[in-house]
Amino acid sequence: MKWLFLTLALAAPSWAYIRFGCATLSVQRLDPVVEPGSIPSAHLHQARNAFNATMSGDIGAKATCTTCSFSEDFSNYWTAVMYFKARNGTYKRVPQYPNALLGSLTGGMTIYYLQQDFNSNGKTKITSFKPGFRMTVGSPTTTSGSNPGLRYTCLKDIMTRGSETNDFPKQPCPAGIMAIHHFPACWDGKNLDSPNHQDHMYNTVKGAFQNAGPCPSSHPVRMPQLAFETMWNTTAFNDKSIWPADGSQPFVWSFDDRRGYGTHGDYMFGWKGDALQKAMDSTSLVSNNLKTQSVAEANKCTIKNTVNDDLDGWLDHLPGAMPM
Ligand SMILES: *[C@@H]1O[C@H](CO)[C@@H](O)[C@H](O)[C@H]1NC(C)=O
Ligand SMILES: *[C@@H]1O[C@H](CO)[C@@H](O)[C@H](O)[C@H]1NC(C)=O
Ligand SMILES: *[C@@H]1O[C@H](CO)[C@@H](O)[C@H](O)[C@H]1NC(C)=O
Repeated sequence: MKWLFLTLALAAPSWAYIRFGCATLSVQRLDPVVEPGSIPSAHLHQARNAFNATMSGDIGAKATCTTCSFSEDFSNYWTAVMYFKARNGTYKRVPQYPNALLGSLTGGMTIYYLQQDFNSNGKTKITSFKPGFRMTVGSPTTTSGSNPGLRYTCLKDIMTRGSETNDFPKQPCPAGIMAIHHFPACWDGKNLDSPNHQDHMYNTVKGAFQNAGPCPSSHPVRMPQLAFETMWNTTAFNDKSIWPADGSQPFVWSFDDRRGYGTHGDYMFGWKGDALQKAMDSTSLVSNNLKTQSVAEANKCTIKNTVNDDLDGWLDHLPGAMPM
């Protein structure tokens, strides 16, 4: 969206969001929120920052490096991994590319924390997440695309925005596919987590970065509107002669979801101290005083994979799935 560049250039006086990139830390089958302690977990995830199968508590205090451009952010952000399924039945992992707005982080994801919307906090106090807070949005077993926070954009070029769909685009997308996850922003004010990682939050998201609806009395506390944008570079797979013979689209999530409805994102809060609260309290988030680090430093933060899967060849089954 061209206007995003424009806002950057003009440094609009009231900027009610922070947006930044986090490089990919690891791609492996671990999921400490949904399947804690399970090595490997059932399907592949990609993560940012301090990450292992059992992590819990105040991860901001425990982490030693971050892949994010804001150096006080040790939160974990993760999503499933996309595969291409060729006509001959084999799978290949789809690479990611960094958001054109944010420089050359390795792979990566764009993270947003919005107040009410891009321009305003809606005169509402935005309460930061707390140490130990975690939540998920979406579920790998969902069979309907009814959550307005979970969407796809077929990228005509790397700046395309809008035209969101609730399932994978049906035609080749010249510049790839953007997967979008908007998390719920209404909290019950009490629980840092809940058994399904969702009931402590309430979703009034309307999608496409529109203002979310008001919070209900059961979940009255307005938190930052968290969103992920992940850019998948599908261009190496856009030749329809290698797509399924019936013409259906060939991309699947790592848990073998061909519709795309089961897309999900997991979040574990880990900002140092009160950095995020201070940012949310500032009327203009563009002058938020958050500390930053260079792309080179962010890219240096890596961990050793603890699950040994072949990630980059042509695979006859998805990692974790039984061979057919
Ligand atoms: C996982 O990370 C936590 C800190 O977040 C640490 O206490 C624990 O020892 C780690 N476990 C493994 C298996 O590395
Ligand atoms: C399957 O198809 C892909 C894409 O055309 C190709 O690169 C790969 O070598 C094929 N694998 C086999 C086993 O035929
Ligand atoms: C996307 O993938 C294509 C084909 O592999 C590659 O030529 C191109 O540079 C990639 N684009 C980006 C933005 O990484």
